[in-house]
Amino acid sequence: MNMPDDERLRTLGLWPVWHLRAAAVEPISSPAPVTAGVGQYRQAVAGADDIADMDLEALRQAVLSCRRCLLHETRTQGVFGVGDINADWLIVGEAPGAEEDRLGEPFVGQAGKLLDAMLVSIGLTRGTNLYIANVLKSHPPGNRDPKPDEVAACIPYLERQIDLIRPKIILAMGRFAAQSLLVTGDSISRLRGQAHRYRDVPLVVTYHPAYLLRNPADKAKVWDDLCLAKSLLMLDAA
Ligand code: URA
Repeated sequence: MNMPDDERLRTLGLWPVWHLRAAAVEPISSPAPVTAGVGQYRQAVAGADDIADMDLEALRQAVLSCRRCLLHETRTQGVFGVGDINADWLIVGEAPGAEEDRLGEPFVGQAGKLLDAMLVSIGLTRGTNLYIANVLKSHPPGNRDPKPDEVAACIPYLERQIDLIRPKIILAMGRFAAQSLLVTGDSISRLRGQAHRYRDVPLVVTYHPAYLLRNPADKAKVWDDLCLAKSLLMLDAA
């Protein structure tokens, strides 16, 4: 039976949760055309060896004072990540936006509000069994796309966060998170809907909440992705 997306969400009890209460939607940059993936630019960068030995506090301090790419010249502060350091769930986004740059925490703007609603729909709340981080720790000016050299410079921080947190499931939100972690140039539509692995950790790709703000009809696909992630986690626990 073909059901409209709104009705499907309502049937699943998601619609009120997924509806954004705030009226104003901050301007967000259009998605770049999918061409070469950022994943292919991942490479060893000078100093990454030190990062691989750091504990979480040293890593946090390193991010706060990081000058590994030019973004440090324009950012307000490094945005490390937030949540339960023993979490099963790791959510990976792209880069801090303007609000995150101001407050020093990932996903606190409009996209973050939608992310919180998405998480509530599968029984998760910020700070409990959940850690949130980005590929880039510094805000790209004007919310432009991350550049390959910025991803290459910053990815060792995320890799070390994953090593230390040892999540049981990773949800990669958006093209940059997916391509960077899976080292691929494949489009998000090819990558979503299946189980991947980052090293030995199951990984599910889904749309970025900022994309969903512009394309609410795709929320149903994200619901499917969240359910896939949850079932992989339950499989792992069984
Ligand atoms: N978008 C992201 O990818 N990360 C954030 O922290 C905020 C918006």
